[in-house]
Amino acid sequence: MNRAADQSQVNPLREGLSTRAVPQPCSVVIFGATGDLTHRKLLPALYNLAADGELPPAVTVIGFARREKSDADFRREMEEAVRKFSRQTVRDEIWKNFSQSIFYHQSDFSDEAGFKSLAERLDKIDKERGTRGNRLFYFAVGPDQFEPILKHLKAVDLNKACEGSWARVITEKPFGSDQTYRIDHFLGKETAQNILVLRFANAIFEPLWNTRYIDHVQITAAETLGVEGRAGYYEGAGALRDMVQNHLLQLLCLVAMEAPSDLSADSIRDEKVKVVHCLRRMTTDEVATNVVRGQYAEGAINGQPVPGYRNEKNVNPKSMTDTFVALRLNIENRRWWDVPIYMRVGKRLPKSGTEISVHFKKAPLVLFNKETNESNVLVIRIQPDEGISLRMQAKMPGTSFRIEPVKMDFHYGTSFGKASPEAYERLLLDAMSGDATLFARRDEVEEAWAFIDIIENAWSAKKNAPDLFLYPAGSWGPEAADELLARDGRSWRRL
Ligand code: BG6
Repeated sequence: MNRAADQSQVNPLREGLSTRAVPQPCSVVIFGATGDLTHRKLLPALYNLAADGELPPAVTVIGFARREKSDADFRREMEEAVRKFSRQTVRDEIWKNFSQSIFYHQSDFSDEAGFKSLAERLDKIDKERGTRGNRLFYFAVGPDQFEPILKHLKAVDLNKACEGSWARVITEKPFGSDQTYRIDHFLGKETAQNILVLRFANAIFEPLWNTRYIDHVQITAAETLGVEGRAGYYEGAGALRDMVQNHLLQLLCLVAMEAPSDLSADSIRDEKVKVVHCLRRMTTDEVATNVVRGQYAEGAINGQPVPGYRNEKNVNPKSMTDTFVALRLNIENRRWWDVPIYMRVGKRLPKSGTEISVHFKKAPLVLFNKETNESNVLVIRIQPDEGISLRMQAKMPGTSFRIEPVKMDFHYGTSFGKASPEAYERLLLDAMSGDATLFARRDEVEEAWAFIDIIENAWSAKKNAPDLFLYPAGSWGPEAADELLARDGRSWRRL
């Protein structure tokens, strides 16, 4: 990261007012510009940043893809996508202005000539639009395309930046060197970022945040969506790699890490990596007892029938790909000793929602609550309806001492009266500012893979591989997932 260059641009009048570096003018080249991610997330995020006045006006977007089309065609296509997926309603005059900064570059990823003309085009854009030689290359493509693209960027010298400028790469999957921004969009979600504030800006939680007071932690990421035309990618990934290896382990790190010594990217990431490092590695036998894998069969979502995974387009009819995973894991350090962490993630579940719940130990069973099974639960809702709630016991009005659980609730939307930005907005801005805090560092990713690989290997073993359970679409996954907790005398929190 070019810190010196970043800091030289900081406006002294803003010093102390903002903890965020300022995004710099740049060209954003999106490889895979005609794909799903560009339509659903990237262009809507860039539009919203522009609409909120967060983007330096010179920022220029260049879509790079194989299909033949003109700038005008691409702009029309992007307008349709942004109107469909944008968080805010699209305002015509803002779109008109913003669309003038969008261009299309047609080339195959394996064609060096296409990269050469890209380099020329970027130079021209620098001169005409003031992008100052700064380039952000976004790899919205499958990992098999990373190598040819990188090779060709290097061949035409686009991997290097001129003095005083920068060249950065954002990938959705692990790769690379210091200027690589490994995106994990869960880290850009407002409530994920709020976990550190909750824990370390308040005095009351941290003293309880350990094995003495916490019984267990649950993390759930549920989606009603199915594979949505992404079978080409998903068949080779499955829920474990698609969601657990990255998003869920990142959330776990934020919940479980020690306080960093300061808020720099590396101090935070140094603490996060220790958590993954301390995850107890399972033996093959333990995988069978601590991890449940499932795949959705046909069923119904919101009353509408939906096909089973094996009947989705481009899915192998005998596919063994997991669309659901539940696991029980342990962090072997002093703070988390003997505190089980349960995680589950699944597609085609009855509700969409991501939350972390911290279940505290029960108060001594004397006085009012001799019979009760209730304990305090702190719920961090990542989405939708971002917020935090604390469940506690209260006396029912009346003459007897009847105790019932009640909720103290904080909703982002109502407390701040302001919608949270989409994760991709924050992350794109951070990449333009050279702030890598919310991106995964190489060692974090490697540690996460070391943990996940053991599970993958057990599943793909020729002999005695654990079962893949089918579950009807619209259910909460296989029964084995409930048994995983029932065995410990616990149950999943209802979303
Ligand atoms: C992506 C996964 O990283 O995250 C998808 O590849 C998943 O399979 C998505 O649907 C969920 O993200 P969000 O922000 O919609 O909860």
